[in-house]
Amino acid sequence: MTPVDDGERPVTSPVLQVEELSVQFGGLCAVDEVSFSVEPAEIVGLIGPNGAGKTTTFNCISGVIVPTEGNILIQGQTVTPFTPERACAMGVLRTFQNVRLFGELSLRENIMMGAYSAGRCSMVSAMLRLPIHARLEREAAERADHWMDLLGLMDYADAGATSLPLGLQRVAELARAMAANPQIVLLDEPGAGLNKVEKERLSDILRSIAAETNCALLVVDHDMGLVMGLVERLVVLDFGKLIAQGVPEEMVRHPDVVEAYLGVA
Ligand SMILES: Nc1ncnc2c1ncn2[C@@H]1O[C@H](COP(=O)(O)OP(=O)(O)OP(=O)(O)O)[C@@H](O)[C@H]1O
Ligand SMILES: [Mg+2]
Repeated sequence: MTPVDDGERPVTSPVLQVEELSVQFGGLCAVDEVSFSVEPAEIVGLIGPNGAGKTTTFNCISGVIVPTEGNILIQGQTVTPFTPERACAMGVLRTFQNVRLFGELSLRENIMMGAYSAGRCSMVSAMLRLPIHARLEREAAERADHWMDLLGLMDYADAGATSLPLGLQRVAELARAMAANPQIVLLDEPGAGLNKVEKERLSDILRSIAAETNCALLVVDHDMGLVMGLVERLVVLDFGKLIAQGVPEEMVRHPDVVEAYLGVA
C-alpha cells in the first residue's frame, strides 16, 4: 500500500512529539503539561473520560488552536506558526467526527482535494491554468485513484460524495487524508455512527495503512472495543493531565485509569 511516488518526505523517528502541552480556556486548564510521542507506523489511542482534553490536544496538533504553553514537533521540527495549513504542510492530516466531505463534488474530486492539500499546488497556478497546474492536477487524480482503488472506493468514484452511506464516507475521508501523503493522521471518533461490520472493516484498513505506508495514526474514540482491537499503545488523559500510557492490556488494569473511568460512570 505504498503511496504514489511524489517525492515523499524522509521519515525520522519519532514522527510526533508533544512536549509539555498546556491549553488554558479562561480559568480552566483543558490540557495540563501533557507530553507523549508517536513513532512512524504506530497506532496510538488517545483516550479519557468526557472533558479529559482529547479534542483540545488534537486541535493543537492539527494547528486549529494555539497552545498556551508547550511545543509540537513533527519529525523533530517545531510546528510554527500554529496554523492548520502549516500542520498539513508538515504532514499532519485529520479526519472529523462529523464527516466533512464536499457534497457538491464527486468522491474522486473530494479525494483529489487531499492531494492538493499536500501544499504543492497553489491557488494562483490553478486559477491561471499554468502548465504546472495541469501536471499537478493529473498527479492529484492519479493519487486519488490509487487510494480509491486500495480502499475499495473505485465503484463510487463519480458518485456525489455525501450520497454514500456513512461507512463509505468515513473511508473516503481517510482516502482524502492519505492522498495528501501524511506522516500522521489524527482520527476523531472514526467509529462514530458505524455498525459492527463497518467498524471491523475500518480497523482492518487502518492497520494495513499503518503497516504498509509507515504513516502513524492517533485515534480518539469512545468505543473501547474498537480502540482495544486497533491500537498498540494508549495515552490516557483525565482532567487535562496525562495519567498513564502503555499497552492496552496494562492500561485496562492500571489503577489510575480504572479510577478515572469509574469516577465518571
Ligand atoms: N473553546 C473552548 N472554550 C472553553 N472551554 C473549552 C473549549 N473547548 C473545550 N473546553 C473545555 O475543555 C475541557 C476539555 O475539552 P475537550 O473537548 O478537549 O475534551 P474531550 O476529552 O475531547 O471530551 P469528549 O470526550 O467529551 O469529547 C472541557 O472541560 C471542555 O468543556
Ligand atoms: Mg472530544
